[in-house]
Parts: sequence; structure tokens; C-alpha cells
Amino acid sequence: MNLKTQYLGIELSSPFVIGASPLGDDIDMARRLEDSGASALVMHSLFEEQLTSESSAMAAFTEGVEESNAEGLSYFPESAEYSLGPEDYLNHVALLKSRLSIPVIASLNGRTPGGWVGHAKLMEEAGADAIELNIYEVPTDMDESGSEIEARVLEVVAGVREKLTIPLAVKLAPFYSSLPHMAKSIHLAGANGLVLFNRFYQPDLDIEDLNVEPKIFLSTSSEILLRLRWMAVLYGKTPLSLSLSGGVHRVHDAIKGIMAGADTLQLVSLLLRHGPQAMASLIKDFTEWMKEHDYNDISEMRGCLSHRNSPDPAAFERANYLRVLQLWKV
Ligand SMILES: Cc1cc2nc3c(=O)[nH]c(=O)nc-3n(C[C@H](O)[C@H](O)[C@H](O)COP(=O)(O)O)c2cc1C
Repeated sequence: MNLKTQYLGIELSSPFVIGASPLGDDIDMARRLEDSGASALVMHSLFEEQLTSESSAMAAFTEGVEESNAEGLSYFPESAEYSLGPEDYLNHVALLKSRLSIPVIASLNGRTPGGWVGHAKLMEEAGADAIELNIYEVPTDMDESGSEIEARVLEVVAGVREKLTIPLAVKLAPFYSSLPHMAKSIHLAGANGLVLFNRFYQPDLDIEDLNVEPKIFLSTSSEILLRLRWMAVLYGKTPLSLSLSGGVHRVHDAIKGIMAGADTLQLVSLLLRHGPQAMASLIKDFTEWMKEHDYNDISEMRGCLSHRNSPDPAAFERANYLRVLQLWKV
């Protein structure tokens, strides 16, 4: 049974990758995951704010920037609250590389062009096999248009690309007017892969304390549907490697992800809940499913449920939408 997969030009033993999370912070955990069959590890992110906070704080102090900006700085965690500072992060890349034989992908997380993107080069020098750039932002400015935001994203991608010789994947939110056009532009800006999607962090409201409650829920399989849709739309249309992140819990989720067109499947919630054994079980179940269904090579399945063979994908999407609404009878 051949599960070998190409991702970002790197050959992986299978599509099952440890997604960006604290799972890579602990060397023993990372090694146990590798022993359970993980084919690569994405480290948790180093944030733009970590790389710029010292200089911004200094600017606020010396140049008397507007109060709203100074206040904005106080929203962010203190440096001690991050699990690894910029220097420690680079040491951890090197440590993971020395203790694992699977590829290690370092993650940078930011949203504005600037000097912080230079840290990508240091990650490469520390031994990272690739960089995953997570662009996370929630637009709140009524004066900034979608195209301006997209231009900014592309500037960040190009800025990181310029620093690197290793492959670059971009982890995106699903909220673009045209994700296919954005994917094409990201490719032209020099990226090698896309990770679909960033999980949209949705805080709850505490109506007694009149406060915003920061919450992080682990995912369920229901989250995969959004990923499957866009994976199926993009597959075969872009030279970018495609990685699915979000909602892979059961063997059928994994099969669907590959059939929609994913090169790799990133797992986080499943592993945080059930540990490395869940990785081993998923790979075993996946292999058995392939055997039962007469697949010898994962490439025989990849993209078979994508839009590639649909002559008019937009009409197909619209038709399914109409059909599903007509199914409900009272
Ligand atoms: C505790 C936790 C920490 C995470 N940290 C990061 C991070 O540092 N960078 C990042 O890009 N994604 C991060 N994520 C998001 C995951 O990489 C992943 O995209 C998301 O959890 C969806 O995958 P899942 O359904 O397998 O959990 C984190 C998720 C969790 C639950």
C-alpha cells in the first residue's frame, strides 16, 4: 500500500501531518507522534506581535503615539505568556530537527508587511524544512476594502518568499470574495502551498460580566465540510500543494479530504484529545479502507471527488444549492 505524498516538493511517507499547535513543543510528544506514523510536524506559530512588540513599545514610549495605539499594545499577551520567544523558537527548530527524522515546518503568523518577515530566514537557517505562514486577521476598518486587504496579504507572502530558499505554505481564512483568484495570486507571489483553513477563532460573550470570553474549542468532524468544498474547487486548478487543516477525526474524514484533493491532512484536535495512539489508529484504518476498496496507491484516490471533471463548477455549485433547498418538505 503506497501512502507516499508530495507536499511543498517534499516527499512524505503519508499525508498525515501534525498541525500547528503545542504538540511540537514537547520533544517526547513529537517523537511519540513520529513513531505513530506522523509524516511531518508543523510547529506552533511565532507571531508578528512577538517580533515587533519591543520596537512598538519603545515607539509608543519615545514618540508619544496616539493613546489608542498604546492601548492596543496592551491587548497583546506579555512576552512571558508566549510558550517560546523568538530566540527560543529558533533553538526549538534546531532541537526538533536533531531529534526527529520527519520534516519540521516552522510557522510564522502575522498580517502586515514589515521587518518581522525577516525571521523566516532565521527559521530556515535554524533547519526548518519549510515555512507555514499563517495570515490571521479580522477586518474591522470600514475604510479598508477587500482588495486592499488582499494586496496586503500578497505583500506579506512576497516579503516572506523573498527571504527564503525553502518552500513556503500559506494558511488562509476562508473569507475571500474569490478564493480561487486569491490562490492564484498567492502562487504568483511565490508560495508553494496553501493550508485550508485557519480556524476562525470565535469568542463568546459573557452577558453577566459584560465581557468577551476567550474560548478555544477543539474541532469536530463537522468542520471538515467547509474545507472539502474549497479543496474540491481548487484541486487541479493550481500548482500549489494543498493541505487540509480542520475537522479530520475519523477515517472517513481523511478519505474525503484526499478525494477532494488534499496532498496532506493536518491533525490537531484529534491528537490533543486522544494522543499519539489516535494517529496510529487513523493510519491503520485508512490503510485498511484502501485495501477493502482496492486502492493500492493514494494517488488513485486524490481529487476523484473534486471539481476537476466538472465542465461548469459554478453552475454545479448553484444547482446543488437549489436542490438542497428543495429537499426540505413540510
Ligand atoms: C491549542 C491550539 C493551538 C493552536 N496553535 C496554532 C498556531 O500556533 N498556529 C496556527 O497556525 N494554528 C494553530 N492552531 C490551529 C490548528 O493548527 C488547526 O488549524 C485547527 O486546530 C484545526 O485543525 P483540527 O480540527 O485538527 O484541530 C491551534 C489549535 C489549537 C487547538
